Amino acid sequence: MNFELSEEQLAVQEAAREFARQELLPGVIDRDTQAKFPLEQVKKMGELGFMGMMVDPKYNGGGMDSISYVLAIEELSKIDASASVSMSVNNSLVCWGLEKYGTEAQKQKYLTRLATGEVLGAFCLSEPEAGSDATSQRTTAEIKGDYYLINGTKNWITNGSSASIYLVFAQTDSQKGHKGISVFIVERGWEGFVVGKKEDKLGIRGSDTHSLMFTDVKVPVENRIGEEGFGFTYAMETLNGGRIGIAAQALGIASGAYELALAYSKERKTFGKPISQHQAIQFKLADMATQIEAARLLVYKAAWLKDQGEDYAHASAMAKLYASEVAMNVTIEAVQVHGGYGYVKEYHVERLMRDAKITQIYEGTSEIQRIVISRKILK
Ligand code: CAA
Repeated sequence: MNFELSEEQLAVQEAAREFARQELLPGVIDRDTQAKFPLEQVKKMGELGFMGMMVDPKYNGGGMDSISYVLAIEELSKIDASASVSMSVNNSLVCWGLEKYGTEAQKQKYLTRLATGEVLGAFCLSEPEAGSDATSQRTTAEIKGDYYLINGTKNWITNGSSASIYLVFAQTDSQKGHKGISVFIVERGWEGFVVGKKEDKLGIRGSDTHSLMFTDVKVPVENRIGEEGFGFTYAMETLNGGRIGIAAQALGIASGAYELALAYSKERKTFGKPISQHQAIQFKLADMATQIEAARLLVYKAAWLKDQGEDYAHASAMAKLYASEVAMNVTIEAVQVHGGYGYVKEYHVERLMRDAKITQIYEGTSEIQRIVISRKILK
């Protein structure tokens, strides 16, 4: 067993840390307050190679391993989880499946631009009545010769208004249940495709989460990924990897809050000494550090299994389940360590606490992760 990072992985970690401090930290409070998407910053993330990290260089990707990807997300999430979710969706939920299951023509046309961050992608599975119960897709795709007509509504779509390329799940045969779901590449601007309302959220307020409406949107047959009926398997396999990205995001949020709490505890004095010298605070810091370390091991293990070509579905579910719960616990404690200062925006920890909550919900709630894990255990 080797816990050491390679020189390349350390370099990626350092580059992400530097980028987060230099480019994400200034303005992160304003973007949160104004619910403003970090457009300029995400562009720069593309230029640095963060938007298609694991994609083969022949499609303009970075050709890196999943550990490097996790390290980068973790660093960015310490400061700006809105920027990191955009990155996670583009890498894991859009580029990965397109590279694995797309045709060569689809990869040349779409992946080459998604991998550089020139354009952003979105993953459109959730619907008003199909969140956790993802098999209940109501959106339909009706074949009409050499094209499909897509009709329906998608909800909670990350990169909803800033994306140019959308992977849309729809029923091609509702008689077949989840085996009748297919997945299509839809471009922004196609007739009948409208970006709906922006959600006013508790956390990750800089991330643009929208509903999307499709009315008779004409999608060429060559834009279907895989065979008809392959969409649900595609979604599940993609989410297995996506959950590693969100677990890394949760780990980063927890680490960011912990680092702030640790530094603050050494500066702030009460009863004549730094609060870090009070056992009440020391024990909090000890618990936070231990939980973060345990989460880190689960997250890196899931990424490592993926890189080894092993089954990683339940490892990624465990990593996401645990890391997101750690993110919630640690950020709440970080606010507590800061006392009244923790409750105001200037000290960052209240934002991290609000951001942490979504990691227990998106890409499969904690309850869904428990379903995935328990089914594997009991199989
Ligand atoms: N990996 C691979 N295949 C899987 C799988 C997994 N993790 N989970 C289920 N499947 C397969 C099953 O093997 C089964 O395949 P077969 O029919 O070929 O046997 C098929 O999918 C259906 O599975 P179930 O019979 O278990 O279906 P179910 O309805 O009982 O449960 C579920 C499925 C696991 C609950 C699934 O619906 C699920 O994961 N729901 C959560 C959806 C989700 O994560 N949504 C996130 C939205 S995207 C998002 O948040 C992105 C963002 O913007 C940040």
